[in-house]
Amino acid sequence: MDGLNLLNPERRMLLKMQQIDHPSWSLEQVLETCSWTDQAVAVGAGHGLENHGFVKLSEVVTTDIQLDSEGEKAMHSGLLEQRLWNWMKTVSEPSMKALQSEFERHEAGPGVGLLKQLGVAIDGGILVANDASMIEDTLKKRSDFLSSLPLEMSELDDDLLNHFRQRKGLVSSLEQTVRSWSITPVGESVDPELLKESVVISELTPELLQTDEWKEAEFRAFDVTLESATPRRGRSHPMQALIERIRSVFLEMGFSELVDDYVQTAGWNMDALFIPQDHPAREMQDTFYLTEPLKMDLSEDLMSKWKSIHEDGGDTGSTGWGGSFSFDTAQRSLLRTHTTVNTIQYLAKHPKEACRVFSVDRVFRKEAIDRTHLPEFHQIEGIIMEEGANLQMLVTTLKTFYAKMGYPEVRVRPAYFPYTEPSLEIEVKWHGKWLELGGAGIFRPEVTEPLGIQSPVLAWGMGLERLAMLVLGLDDIRQLYISDLEWLRMQPLL
Ligand code: PHE
Repeated sequence: MDGLNLLNPERRMLLKMQQIDHPSWSLEQVLETCSWTDQAVAVGAGHGLENHGFVKLSEVVTTDIQLDSEGEKAMHSGLLEQRLWNWMKTVSEPSMKALQSEFERHEAGPGVGLLKQLGVAIDGGILVANDASMIEDTLKKRSDFLSSLPLEMSELDDDLLNHFRQRKGLVSSLEQTVRSWSITPVGESVDPELLKESVVISELTPELLQTDEWKEAEFRAFDVTLESATPRRGRSHPMQALIERIRSVFLEMGFSELVDDYVQTAGWNMDALFIPQDHPAREMQDTFYLTEPLKMDLSEDLMSKWKSIHEDGGDTGSTGWGGSFSFDTAQRSLLRTHTTVNTIQYLAKHPKEACRVFSVDRVFRKEAIDRTHLPEFHQIEGIIMEEGANLQMLVTTLKTFYAKMGYPEVRVRPAYFPYTEPSLEIEVKWHGKWLELGGAGIFRPEVTEPLGIQSPVLAWGMGLERLAMLVLGLDDIRQLYISDLEWLRMQPLL
């Protein structure tokens, strides 16, 4: 009969109840007989057996009367009326006055009341006991009552209990549910053979697998609904983890990483990139210019090249921006507004060798902080320079990157940047919507020629925080930079 689906503790408890004849079993008896220490095991087993109809549970609520704080004191130094009575017996003429000087006020007042109840009268200021033996008798009963505690309420004298319940702090009551189990006829009829405990295996060991024992064994099922502790250990901040992942994707795609300073000149940050000197993004309210140092050195030669490109296009065939180019403006120092400032300098140093370079780094813009903007953020920047590089290759590279990051749907749209032609915006599909994640394009001759670059340069710059918002499902960018430990602990491993 395999149908008897009992757990081991249930088997043990029922077997003991069949073997030993008790009309009813208390929790203590079950614990002792079954050799358990955990009450929950006994209660659980009893509950299971009850569900099968093998035992009957009875629950009796009992009220225990126990000593309260004043009661404990009375046990130690005697009840107040007892102490007063003892005093009365020692003095020849127990006057109210003497009593008041002997006992403190908080005892003397109620004490006299207690004595009166016991049958002490006051005659001309003197305390007189008419029936000393009755008083002694009552006092003894009271102190016997207290020494008998704790005791179940029903075992106590009603009058005395009522008396003490009316007095403050002497006794208190404690309600308890007492469970007991008795075996039912159905429980008696269960074949003891079926109550043999089975070996329940919770862990497979090599030793076990070497014998045939596992074939007969019962395996403990995992209860995946149980609450469990979440292991907590140190880990990377989700932003750092994301940066690491981006790094590994670019490294996988054959890129090398570029790390460079964020203090730069306007010359490299803007002029080299053919951003006109009167471009609105160059204004003080958009860019963090530095006062220390106010300016940084740039070679005359370089600035002259930019000057000619900006003013009339130099030899590039471009008409330039017109106006007059200022060396002072070019030398102003600032916090880089994009990481393109570093890739362009890399190209200036290595104008001839084909390369694939990326960076994930911090940039600064004077943005008002809100749900989607921060004055400090990160860009994912990259360039490919090689003979024959073209727009198709640029789009494929970006698509490959986002697909590796888990966003296979990418599209590009025409855009404008002063330094690229053509220029693109990159969009990624997320929850059915297209989200703009960055810009890209092929560097214009106005950018490449003054630096002696001959092959086409594909370039892009994308927002890291925007991507992080997608990956982590955020609708507020600020969440990334507040120390919200609870949130940080709940973030997925990236
Ligand atoms: N630097 C641009 C930005 O900050 C992005 C970009 C990089 C665009 C390279 C084209 C080429 O948004």
